[in-house]
Amino acid sequence: VDFSERHVATLFDEMAAEYDQLEDEWYPHIFLQIERAIRAHLPPGEGRRALDIGCGTGFQTFVLESLGYRTAGLDISGDLLACARAKARRAGSCITLLRASALRLPFPRRSFDVVNCCGSTLSFIADYPQALREMADVLKKGGYAIIEVEQRWNLDLIWPFLDSMLGGPFGYEQDVKESWDNLTRSSSQGIVISYPFTRLDGSLEYLPIRCFTLGEILRECESVGFGLKRVYGIHSLTNLLPSTWLGDPALGQGLRRLARWLAGLEDRVKGIRPFNRLGCSMILILEKKS
Ligand SMILES: C[S@@+](CC[C@H](N)C(=O)[O-])C[C@H]1O[C@@H](n2cnc3c(N)ncnc32)[C@H](O)[C@@H]1O
Repeated sequence: VDFSERHVATLFDEMAAEYDQLEDEWYPHIFLQIERAIRAHLPPGEGRRALDIGCGTGFQTFVLESLGYRTAGLDISGDLLACARAKARRAGSCITLLRASALRLPFPRRSFDVVNCCGSTLSFIADYPQALREMADVLKKGGYAIIEVEQRWNLDLIWPFLDSMLGGPFGYEQDVKESWDNLTRSSSQGIVISYPFTRLDGSLEYLPIRCFTLGEILRECESVGFGLKRVYGIHSLTNLLPSTWLGDPALGQGLRRLARWLAGLEDRVKGIRPFNRLGCSMILILEKKS
């Protein structure tokens, strides 16, 4: 798998035209849960500064601004940033957007009150410990970080295995060996999966995504001075349906209703064990202690 910044940026550039088209049941649920976590946990933004790392087209950047933060967003994908800029212009927003890497943040130490890094951004960064160090560095003591990453322990470990055994009816495009390896690899470590992605020229590419265990990401967060305040699981109950169905804009009405009912149920238990340990993603609410 190619985890280089250039490869990741190129693939995200190619998603730009369709990134904001949310006609499926997968992404709207994640975005809604991230927005709820931001609104529930952050203090009012008046006079404070927020940084959105891996801001993409600005989903959380605009939420932070709506809370009153003076907000900056950065990303390595020029084309996603162009979408964010167009949205900002249309909305008369004052957010600052820049092309930069999470691995080399162009800001002084302790210059932000809040850092957001959601939409699985850290899952696309090979040297995620360095990104966490940078994040902690620009955050003030007592500041908040909201991080959302892919989580290893979820039903999307079992669905691909079933899929490969049955000849691929769910469309995971993993073979038996890969899905079995993912399922059985050391329980304390995360895994890197290859997400199939059709490029603009029709060729098939793979985007590497790290699925973390809670213990693994927490160790790194704590080593840079963060303390965990809360963890939420996303797509724990909804993943009773395969993620390939949830991500399909052409999903039938009956399954759509079922997915929404499961999403409503999950919303009530997302912060409770074991549901906050079993989602396809986890949202961590962190406070900088030192
Ligand atoms: C799935 S998108 C999430 C975007 C946005 N936060 C959202 O929730 O829609 C992941 C983003 O991470 C960005 N990204 C990946 N590696 C990065 C890096 N090293 N530095 C900055 N951004 C990065 C990608 O370009 C992409 O925009």
